Amino acid sequence: MSNYSEQKPLNIVAVSGGLNNPSKTESLVQEIINELGEATPINVHFIKFSEIGHLLGGAIYRNQLPERIQEDLAKLEAADALIVGTPVYRASFTGLFKHFFDFVEQTALVDVPVLLAASGGSDRHALVLEHQLRPLFSFFQAQTLPIGVYATDKDFTPEYTIRSEQLRDRITLAVARALPVLEWAPAKGQRAEAVKSKTEQANQNLGINKQIEQEEVLPSAAVPSLDAAESRLHSKVKTPKTQVA
Ligand SMILES: Cc1cc2nc3c(=O)[nH]c(=O)nc-3n(C[C@H](O)[C@H](O)[C@H](O)COP(=O)(O)O)c2cc1C
Repeated sequence: MSNYSEQKPLNIVAVSGGLNNPSKTESLVQEIINELGEATPINVHFIKFSEIGHLLGGAIYRNQLPERIQEDLAKLEAADALIVGTPVYRASFTGLFKHFFDFVEQTALVDVPVLLAASGGSDRHALVLEHQLRPLFSFFQAQTLPIGVYATDKDFTPEYTIRSEQLRDRITLAVARALPVLEWAPAKGQRAEAVKSKTEQANQNLGINKQIEQEEVLPSAAVPSLDAAESRLHSKVKTPKTQVA
C-alpha cells in the first residue's frame, strides 16, 4: 500500500474460535494480524474464545448475552475488515463459533473483507475453509478474501508458536492477496455509523431476527468510487484485446 505513514489505520476485528488456552487457532490468527500490521497501519480488536467461550452458551437473543460479548459484536459489525479463525471440530467450525456469528446482524457484514483461517488436527480437513467458512460469510454477503490459511497441529511448536515455513509463506501470501482489496473496499468508518444505528434499532425491536433493508446499509457500504478503484487496479494504457489481421 502506498503512503504507509499517511494512511488512516484500518479498523480490524479478529476472532479466534479456539477454546483452549493456549490455542493454536489463536496463535495462527495472531500471526496473520502481525503480518497485516507490518504491511499497513491497523487498529485491532481481538475476540478470543479462550476468554469468552464459556460466556456464550445459553443465549437465544442478543440482549441475553453478557455486556462484554454485546460490545464485541458491535465492534465486529463496525469493522473495516475481519480476520476469523476457528479450530476444526467434526469437519466444520465449532458450534460456539457459529453460535457467536448467529448473533451478528445479517446485513452488518455486507461487502466487508474477511480473511479466513482454521486449525485442525489433520490435513484432510483443509477444505473446511472453502466448504464451511466461505459459505457462512457468503450468507452475510461479506467479501471473503481469496486466500485462506489452514494449519495443522504439526505446524506448531509445543509452545504453540508457528514452526512451519510453509505456513508462514501461506500467511504472507494471504495478506499480500488481501491488500489490494483492503485498499479500496474498506468502509473506513463510513459504514460504521449506519450499521451501528441500524443494529441498535434492530436489537431493540426484535433481538437478532429483524431484517434491515439492504438499501439502508449498502450505499455507505459501497466502494466510494469504482472508477477510481478500477484505474488503480488496471493499467491506464488500454490495448485492444484481440488483434485482427
Ligand atoms: C471436539 C473436537 C473435534 C475435533 N474434530 C476435528 C476434525 O474433525 N478434524 C480435524 O482435523 N481436527 C479435529 N480436531 C482437532 C482440532 O481441530 C485441532 O487440534 C485444533 O488445532 C485445535 O485448536 P485450538 O488449539 O485452537 O483449540 C478436533 C478437536 C476437538 C477437541
